[in-house]
Amino acid sequence: MADELVVWKDDFLVGNSVIDGQHRELVRITNECWAGYRTGGIIAKVSFLKAIQGAVLYAKTHFATEEELMRKARYPLLAVHKKQHEDFAAEVAAQIRVFESEDNPDPAAFVEYLTHWIAEHIANSDQKYIPYIAKVEP
Ligand SMILES: [Fe+2]
Repeated sequence: MADELVVWKDDFLVGNSVIDGQHRELVRITNECWAGYRTGGIIAKVSFLKAIQGAVLYAKTHFATEEELMRKARYPLLAVHKKQHEDFAAEVAAQIRVFESEDNPDPAAFVEYLTHWIAEHIANSDQKYIPYIAKVEP
């Protein structure tokens, strides 16, 4: 697998500097999770979990920022979007529990879900609120 799982693309930009900065950081942390795992051995599990827990915390903050902005912008798809964030958080929490309980966990499926969701979500769902948030201050 490549060094970088999610490669930043300018297609991810939503035109709000706060959100764009957070999205860049999410991509960076996701890549860090993979790098953590690639250190190998028992350290892999520990560093992967550490990185993933950091990612979860960061995602929580980011989702709150994004949802507040969508609320201010009266974004009509806020409820649907919020549900996507909640489903993601629940899925990651469930996968972390599975990962923690296994002796020799394989993070491949986990990492795949994470990278796919982040790239898809930023490139599709987040793009839909651009015209709405363009009118409000971050
Ligand atoms: Fe989002």
